[in-house]
Amino acid sequence: MVIKKICCLGAGYVGGPTCSVMALKCPDITVTVVDKSKDRISQWNSDKLPIYEPGLDEVVRECRGRNLFFSTDIETAIKEADLIFISVNTPTKTFGNGKGRAADLKYVEGAARMIAEVATGNKIVVEKSTVPVRAAESILNILRANNRPGVSYQILSNPEFLAEGTAIDDLLYADRVLIGGEETPEGHAAIEELCWVYEHWISRRNIITTNTWSSELSKLAANAFLAQRISSINSLSAVCEATGADISEVARAVGLDSRIGSKFLQASVGFGGSCFQKDILNLVYICECLNLPEVAAYWQQVIDMNEYQKSRFSAKVIESLFNTVSDKQITILGFAFKKDTGDTRESPAIHVCTTLLDEGAKLHIYDPKVESSQIVDDLTHPSVTEEPEKVKNSITIHNDPYKATMGTHAIVLCTEWDEFMTLDYERIYKSMMKPAHIFDGRKILDHDSLIKIGFQVQTIGKRLARPLLARSWGSSHQA
Ligand code: NAI
Repeated sequence: MVIKKICCLGAGYVGGPTCSVMALKCPDITVTVVDKSKDRISQWNSDKLPIYEPGLDEVVRECRGRNLFFSTDIETAIKEADLIFISVNTPTKTFGNGKGRAADLKYVEGAARMIAEVATGNKIVVEKSTVPVRAAESILNILRANNRPGVSYQILSNPEFLAEGTAIDDLLYADRVLIGGEETPEGHAAIEELCWVYEHWISRRNIITTNTWSSELSKLAANAFLAQRISSINSLSAVCEATGADISEVARAVGLDSRIGSKFLQASVGFGGSCFQKDILNLVYICECLNLPEVAAYWQQVIDMNEYQKSRFSAKVIESLFNTVSDKQITILGFAFKKDTGDTRESPAIHVCTTLLDEGAKLHIYDPKVESSQIVDDLTHPSVTEEPEKVKNSITIHNDPYKATMGTHAIVLCTEWDEFMTLDYERIYKSMMKPAHIFDGRKILDHDSLIKIGFQVQTIGKRLARPLLARSWGSSHQA
């Protein structure tokens, strides 16, 4: 079979960018991205795409209407496609067995049932969503149990390793593409078909093929390793604050060991995003089901350490503001879970804001890319508050960082947006209440110059100037 038409179920953070790049690099293939959400599809067909990702607008502009289409006509797209990506969401279950840990596969199952209902001819179905090990078996069971004459399926696992904020580059210059399939002649043939698609722009050397289960597990393993590095450096940041060591110096010294490497060793307020926590919880659940409690406990610690870091940072803010933030005006700089994305899923900013709101603070929030409605939704969600109206009355969302900081007692920096490094902090200082505090949860600011301006500065993994009050108490004790 020569692949001429590709369909992707799910026009989200993965389906959209992945298929856009595929269309860009494979002008001989027609790529149709479909979604159940009419809203999302109409945004993909508009000038304002539903997600912000550097470089994405340009790619979509070049391909849309040429060989890239966004549609809600799922049935036709499935019928016509030779190869179908399943790129739907796989959130953590919020109910029943495995609640809070297992992956909820209802959307994957829904996608499989849709394919089974309408497919004609031979189809290669590719799991792009991150799924538990052996999920492909369940998909295949659904497809084959509903099989009709003349229809045959091959299932591949092709997990996505892109990171939000750098998705286009990650897709264009992928470190590796991983394709898992059945160890049969038909399975190998299907793997070759998908390899051929990627070989339009990825060198064959960087395309790894494995059996299906290795491929599924590799995605969970990769995210677990990445998150583990963050939790490891964050755990040591607490030791630094207690001892006077500096986590940036420690990270540099450790990272220069070529066996360890320097990437992903940046201490911070904690990791966020839709994947790390969800995928590790999923791994933990799988281990428990496989009767491997020690392995489950090992990976659970990565999550626990992340929770600890978020709480530790929030507690530090409150403690430094003389142990009360009730009715204090606090600026939150950055709400997205990291820079260069508008995505707020599991953003540490939600944790920080919720803690401060619970303590009675009034928040002034600024993020260059997150929509106001998203911030309100996140902070009034039933999982974070029982008093949505009170929260709404306690937050103001700004579209200018200078307005967001005017008259406030403290700035809490939650996202490492580049623009926060070049703000006019002299001007900001002048407009704030005194003492003016700044809490750099991402370690991106020039702390020495902020201290010179007059700020009380606190960050992660390093002791800076002590708060005024503590200093004057200290000196009076010595007198
Ligand atoms: P998303 O929530 O942004 O998008 C999923 C889309 O699928 C939604 O628009 C939803 O309406 C649609 N959908 C659900 N069921 C459908 C169906 N039966 N037919 C058509 N559309 C359907 O999710 P996102 O972030 O794109 O993630 C998708 C998968 O990729 C998840 O398994 C995730 O773990 C994985 N992943 C995500 C990465 C990320 O950075 N967001 C990176 C790598 C993997």
